[in-house]
Formats: sequence, structure tokens, C-alpha cells
Amino acid sequence: MKIKIFNREICARALLATNSSCAESSAEMRKKMGIVYFEQDRVFKLDTPHTSYLIGIVDEENFLGHIYYGRKLDEHRLTYLLRTNEAPFVPSKNSRERVSFLDAFPMEYPTHGVGDYRESALRIRTEEGYQACALFYVSHEITAGKKKIPGLPASFGKEDECSTLEITCRDQILDLTVVLSYSVFETTDVIARHVEIHNGGEKKLFLEKAASMSLDMDNRNFDMITLHGSWARERHVERRRLCRGFQGTGSLRGESGHQDHPFMALVTANAGQEEGEVYGVQMMYSGSYEIRTEVSQYQSVRWMAGLENQNFRWALAPGETFYTPEALLTYSARGLDGMTASYHDFIRNHVIRGEYKDKKRPILINNWEATYFDFDTDKLLSIAREASELGIEMLVMDDGWFGKRNNDDCSLGDWYVNKDKLRGGLACLVEEVNKLGMKFGIWFEPEMISQDSELYRAHPDWAISVPGRAPALAREQLVLDFSNREVVEEIWRQMKTVLESANIEYVKWDMNRPLSDLGSAVLDPEKQGELSHRYMLGVYELQERLVTQFPNILLENCSGGGGRFDAGMMYYSPQIWCSDDTDAIERLAIQEGTAMIYPLSTMGAHISDCPNHAVGRITPFETRGYVALAGTFGYELDVTRIPGEDRAQIPGQIALYHKYNDLVREGDYYRIASSMKDHDLDCWQVVSKDKKESMVTVIQVLGSVNRRSRMIRLKGLDEGKQYRIEGEELVLGGDALMYAGLQLHNMKGDFVGRIIHLISI
Ligand code: GLA
Repeated sequence: MKIKIFNREICARALLATNSSCAESSAEMRKKMGIVYFEQDRVFKLDTPHTSYLIGIVDEENFLGHIYYGRKLDEHRLTYLLRTNEAPFVPSKNSRERVSFLDAFPMEYPTHGVGDYRESALRIRTEEGYQACALFYVSHEITAGKKKIPGLPASFGKEDECSTLEITCRDQILDLTVVLSYSVFETTDVIARHVEIHNGGEKKLFLEKAASMSLDMDNRNFDMITLHGSWARERHVERRRLCRGFQGTGSLRGESGHQDHPFMALVTANAGQEEGEVYGVQMMYSGSYEIRTEVSQYQSVRWMAGLENQNFRWALAPGETFYTPEALLTYSARGLDGMTASYHDFIRNHVIRGEYKDKKRPILINNWEATYFDFDTDKLLSIAREASELGIEMLVMDDGWFGKRNNDDCSLGDWYVNKDKLRGGLACLVEEVNKLGMKFGIWFEPEMISQDSELYRAHPDWAISVPGRAPALAREQLVLDFSNREVVEEIWRQMKTVLESANIEYVKWDMNRPLSDLGSAVLDPEKQGELSHRYMLGVYELQERLVTQFPNILLENCSGGGGRFDAGMMYYSPQIWCSDDTDAIERLAIQEGTAMIYPLSTMGAHISDCPNHAVGRITPFETRGYVALAGTFGYELDVTRIPGEDRAQIPGQIALYHKYNDLVREGDYYRIASSMKDHDLDCWQVVSKDKKESMVTVIQVLGSVNRRSRMIRLKGLDEGKQYRIEGEELVLGGDALMYAGLQLHNMKGDFVGRIIHLISI
């Protein structure tokens, strides 16, 4: 549905002046649509439930300026925030200081080379080698709903759930059209932004940078929060002061990565879990990216998120359009908790799709840490038999079932069953597993190729590499050139054959090395800079085929653990393996950082054997269970060989999963205490949307003597409700639990845990 801009404007103006019925109906419409253009003031106002975002068109030349983003306002007449009444004034009043204007004005989407020396969102080079580019407002359109972005994952919403503003800007000289797209959502404080860049001229244009979003704000004493780590230590929270000059996070790896994360928050210095202002941005993208800040000479912050631009160079032929990935912006006036709540709801409602969107996931047992490559049909069936009796619902066969793969040196690219290991074939194994009442899942690493593989021997040029230079190996493997259609088709052919050969209900899609030696045998020299992004487009296309042609399959993404854990991947898979580190204590920090922006329902979390394979630590089986219950929940161990007392606990853990999983998947999540801060106590809470039930998980990392019993203050409860604490006589008011606190008794020992269940009466 398209909204007629003219009528909306008249109604919007009437609304300010009168109480007429037009004003009332426009108030309704305004409430509904969330986006209004005030023609007289030349201001766009975008509203979410608690935030407003204002953009202004300025001066005769139609500069597009960023006015305001923050707490929701009724007022739209805020153009004074652009400070165009201060020297050097706008160019039409003071053309001799045009550069000073351009270098200070809060640009909505800044360009390169004409006098704004701050970081630019768009950098273009012409065939002649010039870089100057200037964009001016031309027109706009406001529509209900949200379009797809061709080839890319993108958030979605129906016409009554969201509305979209598209602002068209042009550089007349380059014959370049840039459409800035903003979607606002009815029930969540997220604004989804992306940009479309169209070459209307007769010559090629080379995009050297094309950010998904840019935001100019005054620096209100901001700190920066980012997520960092390494393999098996992903997404630890890091906070630092925002300083002058450039700071940021990014990846050149062709995947969002273990080391950095496509997310950044700018928070006021006083911001904590519950207080202060928090701005968040995350990329809905799984490849190389950058998120950067620049604090200028005037103490303004320019904040930008998009594709990385060291390798990136896109040749845009006449008539072609380039689409940037989407950036998801949020603002919270109630600290980190507010940002977390918005992102969780948004991802659950507007990013995750498919059969398992709102559904409980089968409890799986994965054989990786149980057997590594050393398994056969009998071994897998012995695990399945024992597991099914304990209540586990799905067997996942991990790496090692294909080609001649008995170690990680070979066979990637040869996706046919190794009949020496799976005697009788895959269908036979799956039938046997199904007979036990269990589902069956399988592991693939579709993007990779081993040099020791039939595929590589037939097509060495299908690996990403630069001619004449031996490409760097990682885990003895190379990366397939997914910008090459032939490659994508062949891998799909192989995968489809396997998936159609048996009743497969789950796929774990792995990716175990980053990209290097960027070179494609099929791209023209001027298009080699497109490889990294085209690779991602190929991956997305294959995942889209998988989820549309096999809609019953539950897809779990993975990348050497959590190296590609991002909202882009969540568009295809409702869950992602969080980390190869399954140690319950290490997982506390990993899951805390992950849950800061992603819902618990997306976090792949399993109970594994001890001493833990990654860190060698021994933790109680019970505690491992509590930590895994905060995610998708499953097992990654040889259930036939673990100690009897551990095995005996499994039915109880499974009962806990069934009891709490609806709450974990659908509820509001709160961080109560962080072991990252005091190496002592970790605590998180989930509250049902109706506030009738809550689950609190406490993990004591280190026991200590001679201290009064611990108190934790809960969150998110109904002040007016009384809550019964299961297993205790105690009934307490929501207000007491939140403002006075709950006492934790008898927490003795290291690595011990507990779940506290509150039910309103
Ligand atoms: C990656 C994954 C693991 C496992 C192995 C198999 O490391 O993260 O879970 O699947 O690959 O090689």
C-alpha cells in the first residue's frame, strides 16, 4: 500500500493546528504509520514505540541533514539542532565558506571529496579516476510494509507491522541515484536501514565504499561497547571511552568472525544495565564489515556501519543497482536492558523465519566431541539407542561421514557417503534412528574444498586463489569460489542428493576457515574487488534454496564454533552454534555477550563431557545443564561412556528443558550479575511476557567463606503481583523481589548452580 504523500502532509499539518476530524484520522494514521513528512518544515519524523528519528532537508540545494535520534518526541520542529543559523551558515547565505559548512553539517549520508573531511559513507571513483560526489534530496516515498533486498537477508514485516521511508538523492553530475531506506516497526524500537545505489549514467562507476548507515550526533560523553574474542572465546563484552579520531571494529575475513563482531553500542558514560542512554547498531550481514566512529573537531560523532572497504570495490555498470546489507539501529533510554529487549524481540519477530520460528527445537545429541572422526553405523546407533531411552530426540552426525574423511586433511567438496563407515548407506542408518523414535541430522561444510578431494582434482580453479600464488591453507583446506555460479550449482546438486536420500530433519552448516588470497577465476580484473561480497551472496543463495526447498529441515549455522553468529545468518537458521568451547564456565562470558543482542533461542548450547575438551576444566554435570538450558539445549558427548551418575541426571535435565523452554524461547531476558565483572557470581533471568512466570539461573563460579548470604535483585516482574518461589514456602511481592532482592542460601562450592522458579499466584 502506497501512502499519498500530499494528503498525509495536509493531515499532519492540520493535526498540529486543529482538532478536526481530519486531524483525528491523521493522528490515527500517524500512529499507525510511524513515519510523517512535515512539508512546511521539510522534516521527516520516524517514530517507534519509544524513539524518534528526524531528518531535515536544508537550504536551496536540498542538503539532507540528520536532526535527532533518541527518546520519543512529539515535537518535530527541531531544525535548530542542525545549527544552520550559526556561522558559517548555509552555502546560499555564505558561499565563500562552503567547505566549512560541509565539514560541520550533520549529514544523513555523507559523500566523499567535496569538502566534508570526516569519514564518508559513499566513496565513488569514476572511469576517469575522480572521486568527488555530492548527494541532494530529490523526492521521497512512504509505504506500508517493507520490501525484500535482492539477494540479501533482510528484516521483514507486514503492512500493519511496519512502514518504510525511501528518500531519493542524486548527484546530477555523476547521474547517480541513491535511495536511503528506513523501516520502522510498530512494536519494536528498531529502525532497519539500507541503501540502494543506481548508476543512471553512460559510464561505469566504481564503488569503493558503500555504508549501510551513517549517523551524525553530538558526542554526549559516550563510551563504546563492542564484542571481541577468538576461536572458542567469542563475544566477550568490551567497553572503552569514545575518543577523538577513528575507532571501530571490523572483519576482513569474509565472515563476521570470532575476533570482532558486527555490532557496536554507543552509551552515555553513566549507562549501565538499567540506566543511561544506549544506541546500538548491528549488521544483518555475515561477511566482512566495518563499524567505525569518528569524533570530529566540533565534538560531533560520525558513526557508520557497512561493508568493509579495504578489499571492496564494485564496478557498477550503467543501469545497474547496488544494494547494501541492512543495518539494525536501536535506541534505549533504559540502559542495556532496553537495547537487549528490543533486539531480542526484533530478531524473534522480524528476522527469524521458517517452521521453527516459534517452535521448540528437538533436543539433539551430536557425536563430534563423542567420537570425532572415529565412528561407524554401529557406534552412532549405540549412542542413539542410549540417547533415545533417556529422552533425547535427535541424533546429529557430525564431520567425517563423506568422501574418505577420517581426519580433517581431506574430502571437503566430496559430499557422498563413505560406505566403509556407514555400512548399508545413509538411508539405512536414518531408518534405524527413526525406528528409535528419533530424528536425524547431518553436518556439511558446503563452502570448503580440500586439495585432497575429487572436486579439487577436477576443478582446482574453483578454490579462491590468486593465479601464480599458492593460497594459504587453514585446517588444510581452501575456500570455494561461491561467486562462481557453477560452484554453487555443483555443491547444491551434491547436497540435494544427500538430503533427498534419507529422512534428514536437521542440517548443521559449518564454515571452518576465513577467506584469504582473494581471487576468482571467473571475475574480470575490474570485478576482483567484488569477490568477498559476491561470495556471501552465493552463500545466502544456497541457504535460501535449502530453507525453501526443504522447509521441514532445521538449519543450524556454525563457523568453527561461533565465527559467523550474526543476524544475517539468523534469516536462514533460527539457531547458530555459539562456540566450540562447551565448558560451562567459559560459556558464561560467551553467552552473556551473545545474549546482549541475540535471543536465547538462537544460541546453540550443549552439555559435553569432562574434563572439558577445550579447557580441561571439570564442572558438575548439573551446572553444565543449567548453562545449556539458557540456549537451544542438547548433548555433545558419548552417552554410552559417561559416568553412570551423569547419565542418570539426563532425564531430569530433559524434564527441565520441557518445563522451561517456552519461557527461554519467548520470554524477556535480563542480566542480573556477571561473572566477568567479579569472577564470582553469574546470574540471568527470563520473565514471561505476561509476567506470570520467571526463571532465574544462578551460577556461583567461586565459593567463598565468611560472607553473609548473597542477595540478587530481580527484574521485569509485576510490582503488584505476588510470586511463589517453587520448592520454598516463600511468597514475595514483585516489588520486594525487584527492589529489596532475593536471598540465595547455601551456595557452597565452585561452579555450582541453581534455577529459581517464580510463579505468580
Ligand atoms: C567445527 C565445529 C564443530 C565440529 C567441527 C567438525 O569446529 O564448530 O562443532 O562440527 O567443526 O570438523
